[in-house]
Amino acid sequence: LNYLTPKSRQQVLELLVQGLKRLEYRGYDSTGLAIDAPNEGNDILLVKRTGKVKILEDAIAEVCQGEGYAQPVDIHIGIAHTRWATHGVPSELNSHPQRSDEANSFVVVHNGIITNYKDVKTLLEKRGYVFESETDTEVMAKLVHHLWQSHPGYTFGELVEQAIQQLEGAFAIALKSKHFPGECVASRRGSPLLVGIKAKTKLATDHVPILYTKAHRPHGQQQFQLLQGSGDVSAEFQPLEHKEVEYFFASDASAVIEHTNRVIYLEDDDVAAVKRDGTLSIHRLNKSSDDPHAREIITLKMEIQQIMKGNYDYFMLKEIFEQPESVVNTMRGRVRFDTQTVVLGGIKEYIPEIKRCRRLMLIACGTSYHSAVATRQLLEELTELPVMVELASDFLDRNTPIYRDDVCFFISQSGETADTLMALRYCKQRGALIVGITNTVGSSICRESHCGVHINAGPEIGVASTKAYTSQFISLVMFALVMSEDRLSLQQRRQEIIAGLAQLDQHIRTVLQLNSQVQQLAKELYQHKSLLIMGRGFNFATCLEGALKVKELTYMHSEGILAGELKHGPLALVDDEMPVLMIVLRDPVYIKCMNALQQVTSRKGRPILICEEGDEETMAFSTRSLQIPRTVDCLQGILTVIPMQLLSYHIAVLRGCDVDCPRNLAKSVTVE
Ligand code: G6P
Repeated sequence: LNYLTPKSRQQVLELLVQGLKRLEYRGYDSTGLAIDAPNEGNDILLVKRTGKVKILEDAIAEVCQGEGYAQPVDIHIGIAHTRWATHGVPSELNSHPQRSDEANSFVVVHNGIITNYKDVKTLLEKRGYVFESETDTEVMAKLVHHLWQSHPGYTFGELVEQAIQQLEGAFAIALKSKHFPGECVASRRGSPLLVGIKAKTKLATDHVPILYTKAHRPHGQQQFQLLQGSGDVSAEFQPLEHKEVEYFFASDASAVIEHTNRVIYLEDDDVAAVKRDGTLSIHRLNKSSDDPHAREIITLKMEIQQIMKGNYDYFMLKEIFEQPESVVNTMRGRVRFDTQTVVLGGIKEYIPEIKRCRRLMLIACGTSYHSAVATRQLLEELTELPVMVELASDFLDRNTPIYRDDVCFFISQSGETADTLMALRYCKQRGALIVGITNTVGSSICRESHCGVHINAGPEIGVASTKAYTSQFISLVMFALVMSEDRLSLQQRRQEIIAGLAQLDQHIRTVLQLNSQVQQLAKELYQHKSLLIMGRGFNFATCLEGALKVKELTYMHSEGILAGELKHGPLALVDDEMPVLMIVLRDPVYIKCMNALQQVTSRKGRPILICEEGDEETMAFSTRSLQIPRTVDCLQGILTVIPMQLLSYHIAVLRGCDVDCPRNLAKSVTVE
């Protein structure tokens, strides 16, 4: 933050805490921040706490009582962090900012993992540095300090640029220093980072030039050289110098959207530096011929209301109830119900190439993986191609063979999941066509894909994914429809699916009316230890996704079971105590599901059913059932997953769990 209209320290602190609240869903086991202390010596004040942002906020309220917090200061840089522990337990010492020394000369906040931190640490220890935390992050603060001592005269940006050359792994970092007051340097590799720009008057440029440094520049030479092909900096790439401006560095847009919608997404190894004079520059090492001259300042369409809870107790509940609108937003401008055509602008040009491919691979993690499971059958049916569905981590573990004529889909709400991103790079390197299916415009997966679909579900804040799942599901259905557009034999099938899509929002509204019935069920179930969820065919994915929701939110054991596998093991779990939920719909696997249902009831199981409205014959097998509207078989999964989302939500509330921030989990897992 660098604002030439003065703010008080108290206001700066409040702004940082507010930003942390917006990012809390990304991690919430400890928090901390650094600002300039109210004294003459450029000292840095660190405040860190274990637990959620609220605890830090209370601590800060006390700090602000002190002298010097209410007076305005001209220029101020503050950095703040909310942590999801990877190295070292959640504790104050392990919280960020991490520091270089007891004098807080350099402080750093970090998202990611430094994989070679042990080597760097050993090296620094040999030079006398004493480490106080168990984090990998601490090496960065100390490394920059070490470089500062050994390279007098280097700018703050240069020091960081040098430091990141020594680091391996993934990071998004922001640093502040007592020796460079009023300056902030940030960089990324692998983990997302953006710069928000709030200016009082219109900016003179839409681009911030990149200053390329030659590697191993001997100290003392001309500092940064602009390497523009033509020699001169063209008018459209003037450096950003603006007198009344505030800069925000953040891991995602939700932390800055209430201040500005103008952002730059930094690329790997960019070093962005804000100076006391209000200038922002972006530095990189070694220009190669196709490197760009500048980074574009883009305007986000996100609205602040989208990341607020409104009247709901939890983001998750809000997001579940948004699904009638979010599914429509996913289809907007793409599905034409009158002409029964589907156009996906982001992959249109690649369709002929995709049609010639050897196979489709769908690769993802967590809930996003389940959206691939949910649509695989339809993709096989409408594309007549082999479709492989892969968990990104396992796909990488296996060094799966990939060929130039493979088409690989990477499905990710955040577009930043490390495993998925690494799998993407693995496939790209081997020449496959890369299709990104994400909810976050500007995310790494978006940017690194050849083509893709934005699912347009709107920001999803609850850690447990809900509306992104149904929108991913629909995006893949739309893709299947595009692929089958000219297949005569499939026209009737396509029409029935498009008709199903047209009614989907209405059907979702009907399912959401089951809310109080689901809450009653939750009261029956919440004290149990386990919940088995069974189904098959188009609804197997709902079983997996339902069980994942129950596990993440309620900490109860839950298992999604393919009904076809029941007799090969899971049936042994069934007795008159074990809670069982079964999905039995009037689709091609109905008879098989009825067999499974009878296997369960004849072992004294008392299943709860999800079945179609008015299906008395099926309901006769149970005393408890949730009835959902009838739709085309391949879209049922959207309607059956919603009761599961609601059920896990209500069980979590009854068990006193923090719905939006389940223990040990984070929304966006940017580490391997
Ligand atoms: C984390 C989240 C899950 C999510 C998964 C994949 O584990 O807690 O809700 O499904 O990451 O995330 P992505 O952003 O790639 O969809």
